[in-house]
Amino acid sequence: MTQQIGELAPPNRLMLTPGPSSMDPRVYRALAAPLVGHLDPWFKGCMDDTQVLMRQIFQTENRLTMPLSASGSGGIEASVVNTLEEGDEAIICVNGVFSERMAVIASHTPAKVTKVEAPYGKPVDAEDVRRAGKGRKIKIVGLAQGETSSGVLTQIADFRKVADELGALLVVDTVASLAAVPLHVDRERVDICFSGTQKAISAPPGMSPITVSPRAEEVFRTRKTKVQSWYFDLTTAMNYWGKDRLYHHTPPVSLIYALREAMRIVMEEGLEARWERHRVNQLALIAGIEAMGLELLVKKPADRLPTVTAVMIPDGIDDAKVRNQLLDEFNIEIAGGLGPLKAKIWRVGLMGHCSQKAYVLLFLAAMEKVLIDQGLRVPSGAGVGAAVQSYTHAHSEAAVVSR
Ligand SMILES: Cc1ncc(COP(=O)(O)O)c(C=O)c1O
Repeated sequence: MTQQIGELAPPNRLMLTPGPSSMDPRVYRALAAPLVGHLDPWFKGCMDDTQVLMRQIFQTENRLTMPLSASGSGGIEASVVNTLEEGDEAIICVNGVFSERMAVIASHTPAKVTKVEAPYGKPVDAEDVRRAGKGRKIKIVGLAQGETSSGVLTQIADFRKVADELGALLVVDTVASLAAVPLHVDRERVDICFSGTQKAISAPPGMSPITVSPRAEEVFRTRKTKVQSWYFDLTTAMNYWGKDRLYHHTPPVSLIYALREAMRIVMEEGLEARWERHRVNQLALIAGIEAMGLELLVKKPADRLPTVTAVMIPDGIDDAKVRNQLLDEFNIEIAGGLGPLKAKIWRVGLMGHCSQKAYVLLFLAAMEKVLIDQGLRVPSGAGVGAAVQSYTHAHSEAAVVSR
């Protein structure tokens, strides 16, 4: 009963993980701003700003665009429970733990769920979805643009085409890709798109930006049955985020401040510059990793998700020992594999604020030291050297493009 708990003093980590990513100091300052009520007239303006910025980042005019008071998994849940009801069919493209999660959550609805799968490390083939849906009435086709468990990028366009043929809505998880990878919700006609705040937006975890097309809104309006979740029923949640600003639940006001500031930073940089930054930093990271003699899980460069690089753990090297030494000696956190990839890969995240040249070079130098200590023969300085070369090459390329 007399135990004294000390003041909170978390270590200052460099989070090169697949989320959360480290945050800009401006976002910390926004978090510490004075709390106001969620119906305060001033806060309503802050909500307007949040929605304006979110539409810019999703590149959409969708009315129904808002942050859900939930982590990224809440975005999955909202997408499937609002669309699926008794008698419906869904096709979910599964190529990793998070796209599998979409299938699992969809299986909690009364709809029939078909998984179309690809091995971890590859995107699902849109042709397989076409085959699976042929002659059936499909309500949604779901996929993850960025599959964080394996570092795989899926190109949306082919799936839009197939969803059109099947008369289905297209649901896209951009938790690991929004603000890092090209995405145009309106132009690519994504019907429901959701993300997480803790990855390439570099805000704290705990919110899920979501946007819904007018066509999907119409599907919500014409449901025959109630949405199975009260909390995630988007039509009632929009009473608060819509023009009436009516109480629905108490939102995390301070997280909304932080998200607003993080999104301001995204738009100050510009989406295209940000996409390019993520691309160039991952190329340098990959050059360094390969020069150290390590292999990547995702073999085809076009399939690599710029925010998460999956590195095969060499034989005889202990996954946890490497990650622990990086943390203890360099304050750098990277992630291990999930599910069937546990102890087989490391996942290095370069997301949002963390996708920086200085961090790539620091990581490669630290990794060299750790791998040598763990008994792997690594050519001295090769990782950093190859990354420097990659940056030099990228800059000359960029100069050519801009001329
Ligand atoms: C692609 C993807 N979808 C969904 C999620 C779930 O998000 P959260 O952990 O914020 O609930 C994650 C988390 O890493 C993810 O990477």
